[in-house]
Amino acid sequence: MELKGKVHYVGVNDRTKALFENLWPLPYGVSYNSYLIADEEKVALVDTVDVAFFEVYLKKIKNIIGDRKIDYLIINHMEPDHSGSISLIKQYYPDVVLVGNKKTFDMVDGYYGVEGERLVVAEGDSLKLGHHSLRFYLVPMVHWPETMVTFDETEGVLFSGDAFGCFGALNGGCVDKNINTDIYWDEMRRYYSNIVGKFGNPVQKALQKCGGLDIRMICPTHGPVWEEKIQEVVSLYDRWSRYEGEEGVVVAYGTMYGNTEEMAEVIAEELSLQGIKNVVMYNVSHTPHSYILSDIFRYKGLIVGCTTYNMHLYPEMEALLNKVAAREMKNRMIGYFGSFTWASAAVKKLGEFTEKLKFEVVGSPVEMKQSMKADNETQARELARAMAARLKENN
Ligand code: FEO
Repeated sequence: MELKGKVHYVGVNDRTKALFENLWPLPYGVSYNSYLIADEEKVALVDTVDVAFFEVYLKKIKNIIGDRKIDYLIINHMEPDHSGSISLIKQYYPDVVLVGNKKTFDMVDGYYGVEGERLVVAEGDSLKLGHHSLRFYLVPMVHWPETMVTFDETEGVLFSGDAFGCFGALNGGCVDKNINTDIYWDEMRRYYSNIVGKFGNPVQKALQKCGGLDIRMICPTHGPVWEEKIQEVVSLYDRWSRYEGEEGVVVAYGTMYGNTEEMAEVIAEELSLQGIKNVVMYNVSHTPHSYILSDIFRYKGLIVGCTTYNMHLYPEMEALLNKVAAREMKNRMIGYFGSFTWASAAVKKLGEFTEKLKFEVVGSPVEMKQSMKADNETQARELARAMAARLKENN
């Protein structure tokens, strides 16, 4: 599939894997994007694909360049979903020169131990292929320390690595203007929040670095190639990396027999009565945390509640909060509630977690013993009203 100039798409689709990184569900699959620049003088491959797909990958490459050799393999990112085929590419194209930065080659050695010629590039270095002229920019921690992006100055194509990528395999076409992109927007937020979410500052730095480039096409390593919707995609990454939230509340609860859930329902109802339209409820034992995280990235408000379990937090709630804490999110408001049967613990532990999260605590925590009574319901509604008022104020 020809994209621009001599740039071809040679990525593959994975509709078999259940969990990306063995953690994150893939209801629409995922693509591993690789690009082949079949220039008149030199041929360059930009990133590779998961090694399980090597046979179909090689076929795609050969369909474009036949028996020509590949001169350069540009390694923007070393995570094995993209670097997995380096050893096999080297076997089929023994003269290929690996192109990466200093940190790339530490990982090439550690993962694959491949020998041969290397071109170590630094910030701003360039490489001429003929028609296309490439320039390299280091963008550490988007999403690993070695990550860099490659900019084709001739055609304005940014090979962006994981940045601007999303879950979801490609169905037929790969450029946004030729496909229905509806499924990809939520999948992009889920991808961002799950995979890149911790690295807001590095993403901001990368956006600033690339801000001055005349980008006419973005070729990420996952999901569609962006040509028509470049501005939307860049603006989403900008908002998410600044942890900017929309007006709305995620109510996430852990319940065993429905009592804590009853309180969650009251809170959600009161939020709605107070005019909050975006209220999303999640049972933390039922919904994969991938989706809950995605909505916590979307909305400013979070109310969490759970039952006490063996004098500790309900385990699935603790697991969710650990994932939230690991992303070091900012600009969020939190309220919390909990329950116990014989020894109170959940509310205290949730309080400890909110300190760790550094979210703004809204309202008073609500605690109930065994089941919800009238005074608990009143307190729960007060908590919801406090959150609604704070959100309106914040707008
Ligand atoms: Fe798609 Fe960080 O690898």
